[in-house]
Amino acid sequence: MADPLTQLVDIPQHGDARGQLAVAELGGALPFVVRRIYWIYGTKPGVSRGFHAHKKLRQFCVCVAGSVRLILFDGRREETVILDSSAKGLLIGPGLWREMHDFSADCILMVLADAEYDEADYIRDREAFVRHEP
Ligand code: TYD
Repeated sequence: MADPLTQLVDIPQHGDARGQLAVAELGGALPFVVRRIYWIYGTKPGVSRGFHAHKKLRQFCVCVAGSVRLILFDGRREETVILDSSAKGLLIGPGLWREMHDFSADCILMVLADAEYDEADYIRDREAFVRHEP
């Protein structure tokens, strides 16, 4: 059977009577050295984002508040995953088309990446992505 496109990683939680603390560190939940962090928040109702793939970039997505639905597509198979917990990280490797839908009003989607922003690493056309040789 083909490997799942959706790679969810458990993020260790250190909750106590005061509340929660979640940790993603190298050698633990985090499989790469982080060179960039960004977060998506304040998404307007009905807005979808993404609609691109990366040639080389690896990303680790954590929905630290609210919820969002992601679609992952490898050119043949498509999977849907709902992120609604800061205790789960979604690993998105290169060569996966991603779309983000149904952001809750309070959604904060934090993305850790293994490289700086590089527009040349993006494939923004779905047909070009399907034709793209890895
Ligand atoms: P965009 O690629 O449209 O985001 P999404 O994946 O949510 O669809 O990025 C929005 C804008 O932000 C675009 O002008 C590029 C810019 N941007 C950066 O400058 N650095 C970054 O690390 C990212 C992710 C985006």
